[in-house]
Amino acid sequence: MTDRQNPAADLHAPFAGSFYDTQDLPPWDFYEDVRAAGDVVWDAGMNAWLVVGYELAREVLRHDQLYAHPYANMGATAAWLKVRSNNPRSFHFLSGEQHKAMHRWYMQDLLSPTWVEKYRPVLVDEVVRHSLTRLAGRSSFEVFGDFAEWIPLGVFARLLGLPDDDDTLLRIRRLNDVIAEFTILANALKLERDPSPADLKIAADAALAGQELDALLMPVVKARRAGTGDDFVSRLWAGGPAIFADWNEMDTLDACRRLLFAGTDTTTHAIANVFYMLLTDTDLLARVRAGDASIVERFIEEALRLNGSVQFRPRRLSADTTLNGVPLKAGDMVVVFLLAANRDAAHYACPHAVDLARDKPRDHIAFNYGIRTCLGAALARAELAAAVTQALALFPTLRLDATAPAPRPLGLLRRTYRPLHVRVD
Ligand code: HEM
Repeated sequence: MTDRQNPAADLHAPFAGSFYDTQDLPPWDFYEDVRAAGDVVWDAGMNAWLVVGYELAREVLRHDQLYAHPYANMGATAAWLKVRSNNPRSFHFLSGEQHKAMHRWYMQDLLSPTWVEKYRPVLVDEVVRHSLTRLAGRSSFEVFGDFAEWIPLGVFARLLGLPDDDDTLLRIRRLNDVIAEFTILANALKLERDPSPADLKIAADAALAGQELDALLMPVVKARRAGTGDDFVSRLWAGGPAIFADWNEMDTLDACRRLLFAGTDTTTHAIANVFYMLLTDTDLLARVRAGDASIVERFIEEALRLNGSVQFRPRRLSADTTLNGVPLKAGDMVVVFLLAANRDAAHYACPHAVDLARDKPRDHIAFNYGIRTCLGAALARAELAAAVTQALALFPTLRLDATAPAPRPLGLLRRTYRPLHVRVD
């Protein structure tokens, strides 16, 4: 893959910074620097265009053919394929009409808001309750590892009808973590140019973890082939032939893997950030404690807007175009910063502050925008609401542990303030 070699240099003053330099730091000042430089700037370190404005981000994400999802067409594609069971028709790689059909199926049926609402008590509320029982008798714990991580894992196990004993969940978590390491590198475009031996090892380990996950999930996939149950795997078998006439085991397996991959890490990090915000703002904590369910919902939308778990999404141009007056070339990578768009002063009054009374609390793009909008948004919102409501009710004295290491932002693609040691005595 060739370098673009700072194509903006002859048009504008070259942008000096690189998003890579914000690893493990709050990225907000960097986003404002990009905004000041014109909303679309060339990052020579990333070898990509950065987009930070709210309207421009939506413009890119709306045009899914022009700004194409890159997994099937990037330097890391061969590695992605290995991680996705060498299945070229994985949901991961679909585009155009096939992607739309798959997206619609999830949106209107498989994970629809109506379906999530119906199963919420057993699928979400019970899992959160169970996660809290693990903490019984403790006067302190760490929110990310001792609480948040168990919730999406437990929901995943219930969705698929897997055993949800600790050993199974921990094994799934370990494999998912290995794959997540690879996805962070690939999404951050770090495998596009001369990947280091260490990066290649991460990709190879992810492929092995994918194989182990396939082996773990395949028995469930085979067992539900009749498609008669109301669990997720049976529903995949029942509805799959409307997507691919020859829908098969690999397609069903892929859909299960997609849920794990897309829904676990993202939600864990989002839960942690929601608690970080509550634990570091006593006034906000008091307002959420005193409020009803609608205040919790509004707070969660603000938490997703300000500190959602996915900082950015990469796209690859399929043709030459112009964005905000900047000429872009076919093949260029464009990286849309969802969390920078969510703090755009041109769209939001008091963009960096929590406002529980916004007119349109859900118009942020923490869950993406357009035809690739997150299909687990209803489920993730239910998990976040249950985590906040149940934990605040159970722990009236929940507070940061002043004697433990303070939380700091960690990560690049997904950023979480960690560790989050709390006391509840
Ligand atoms: C707070 C938690 C979550 C966040 C912030 C989040 C964010 C996102 C984002 C930004 C995308 C767009 C990816 C892209 O096109 O480049 C996406 C897609 C997706 N998400 Fe989520 N997600 C979350 C939770 C979940 C959950 C719980 C599930 C399912 C169990 C899920 C399933 C999916 C799927 C299947 C897609 C692909 C949509 C498509 O291509 O049509 N997500 N998510």
